[in-house]
Amino acid sequence: MKSITDFQHAKAKGRMISMVTCYDFWTARIVNQSDVDCILIGDSAAMVAHGHDTTIPATTELMAEHVRAVAKGAPVKLLIGDFPFLAHRKGLAAAVDTADQLLKAGAQAVKIEGVQGHEEVIRSLVEAGVPVMGHLGLTPQSVHAFGGFRVQAKERRAVDRLLAEARELEALGCFSLVLEAIPNDVGRLVTEALEIPTIGIGAGPYTSGQVLVLQDLLGMDPDFKPRFVRRYLDGFSLLKGALDRFADDVREGTFPAEKETYGCSKSSIA
Ligand code: KIV
Repeated sequence: MKSITDFQHAKAKGRMISMVTCYDFWTARIVNQSDVDCILIGDSAAMVAHGHDTTIPATTELMAEHVRAVAKGAPVKLLIGDFPFLAHRKGLAAAVDTADQLLKAGAQAVKIEGVQGHEEVIRSLVEAGVPVMGHLGLTPQSVHAFGGFRVQAKERRAVDRLLAEARELEALGCFSLVLEAIPNDVGRLVTEALEIPTIGIGAGPYTSGQVLVLQDLLGMDPDFKPRFVRRYLDGFSLLKGALDRFADDVREGTFPAEKETYGCSKSSIA
């Protein structure tokens, strides 16, 4: 997938959309050659790549740098760059500047969390030709307001609000919507109510596609085992094993071997 029109076609044909997060050049090269449809350069980079407890420390400059690296490694995939914390709440000019930086860095679309209070920003960006993906449910930038990373929309009133906000995002021109950490049936309700595709993370099987953080599906953190993640690899053990073997080889003097060294004529060092 290289364009947002492919998103619409996928939903129309009932073909599920696969998306992963990615933050750097070398993993982008792998995703680029995989069958995964598209890449989110998520502000989860603040946690996964930089070790912060939340996504709040991400800045526009940081996100643009990650987009630049991914764009070099994944030229054939649709790239969606995340608006960082409060970038859409500092006025239209600041939001336009953030979109400008993310698209100039190589993204084809941006993702913005929530809707209440920044409807005009979303509408203006869409009118300016910037494809916008919405994000509702557990929006991680609101972690402190939620009192932690908790499943959302479990009660009637919250479900009604989520549905109304999803419809609003569609009316504002969003091309797609991430639904995070909500019950299965709520994921289905929202997906059936919208024309645009929904991409779920911890939102059950009835959305139009699924997104996972790359390092979660590759099993890079042995201590992080949320219910919604399926691990396709024990990446931590695999990589640690390779490092341990390298360290052993160095200690035992078996690395480098003759074929891994450069030679020169005896006379040049005599
Ligand atoms: O930043 C991110 O990685 C995200 C996904 C979890 C959807 O927003």
